[in-house]
Amino acid sequence: MNVPPPDEELTTTSASPVDGSIAPDTSTPDASTLDAAALDAAALDAAALDAAALDAAALDAADPLRDFRARFVLDPALIYLDGNSLGALPRATAARLAEVVEHEWGEGLIRSWNTHDWFNAPRRVGAKIARLIGAGAHEVLVADSVSVNLYKLIVAALQARPGRHTVLSEPGNFPTDLYMIESALRTMDAGHRLRLVPRGELAAAIDDDTALVLLTHVHYKTADVFDMAAVTAQAQARGALVLWDLSHSVGALPVDLNGANADLAVGCGYKFLNGGPGAPAFLFVAERHQGGLQSPLGGWMGHARPFDFVDGYEAAPGIARFGCGTPSILAIAALESGVDLHLSADMEAVARKSRALAELFIDLVEARCAQFGIALVGPPRGAPRGSHVSFRHPRAYEIVQALIARNVIGDFRAPDVMRFGLTPLYLRFADIQRAVEELHAVMTTDEWREPRFSERRAVT
Ligand SMILES: Cc1ncc(COP(=O)(O)O)c(C=O)c1O
Repeated sequence: MNVPPPDEELTTTSASPVDGSIAPDTSTPDASTLDAAALDAAALDAAALDAAALDAAALDAADPLRDFRARFVLDPALIYLDGNSLGALPRATAARLAEVVEHEWGEGLIRSWNTHDWFNAPRRVGAKIARLIGAGAHEVLVADSVSVNLYKLIVAALQARPGRHTVLSEPGNFPTDLYMIESALRTMDAGHRLRLVPRGELAAAIDDDTALVLLTHVHYKTADVFDMAAVTAQAQARGALVLWDLSHSVGALPVDLNGANADLAVGCGYKFLNGGPGAPAFLFVAERHQGGLQSPLGGWMGHARPFDFVDGYEAAPGIARFGCGTPSILAIAALESGVDLHLSADMEAVARKSRALAELFIDLVEARCAQFGIALVGPPRGAPRGSHVSFRHPRAYEIVQALIARNVIGDFRAPDVMRFGLTPLYLRFADIQRAVEELHAVMTTDEWREPRFSERRAVT
């Protein structure tokens, strides 16, 4: 399968076969011999990649997204491969936050709820995110965390499917997704059960007792991708609702919720959207469901008329009913800045570059590090994937720590996965090349065996 170039202008010039993976190449030279002038800029064909001939600088020069990097605060010495966990800081965000703090809050005080549209911020920013995920402007709300939004939508969905008792998900789904199902079922105490079925058997497992199918679109560990439209259609054919977790999809690949006739979704603001640590999350409820679903957390910000201050709860008519308490305006301002940056990028170009970066990474690791027992996890090269690559190794934790000490930041996911996020807006092909050379060095020097690298810290 051919690797999509980061730009249509770049065409494959290699005559080599493009469908095979690279056998470990014993003739592959050291990083010092990688010749930046050896490959024509038009030859981004990672499938036929020859590590010796890679000209990453030329690929970067031809990258249509290359100018985005300057819009982020990034230490030039650092290779940041964790934007799928905490996105980098957009330069515009610091200035925007200063303005909101000093002017809107400091001077405007409570008037800013009206004069600076704070009151509508969850819907305004939701409408912007909607453009990244194929939703209508009135179908997305910024609110709470992914976990809380999952809870709200799980309960709402189960109550909308009375008489059905099963929630389907897959083993190894992101833990909070499974925990929130458990929490919702415990609170409801209405005889529901959670059934975990391997993804290959999911379609057959959906039956007339299935109320809800809850899946993460891009798997947080492996980068496997579900066919959203197909799974949604299978579930809906049996009368079930589907709730998609888009945390590793939004801002990384084009998503088309309405094209897939999706019911419900949630997603994260602090990963690819660059909204900042603990940024608010978002939720999507298809317009056709909004009137029929009720949030179990009916706070005043989801009320039809919050400033009437009446005693009884009455849900707001549209997506606003899924709000609960007062939103964090500072946090939403940071998120909006990250979202605005994404809206100025072509998501198709982002997706193309993501795949090219991933396939380059996979090929280089195979060419340079296969002898160290580092094995690719998740989709094989060429297959649909999310925007990270993961490898398995029994000492993955130590290796990741040793890489961090060399200024290459990835992360570790228990029990044995090293995960590298690929953020097309600020990563360069040269970064991938250097990251793999650092990995090679960590392995050849046995550096990862240093005792300091096995000290476990709270966040991995
Ligand atoms: C797939 C997925 N869902 C949910 C979350 C957590 O979301 P939150 O911390 O906003 O509850 C994460 C965090 O990494 C995630 O990867």
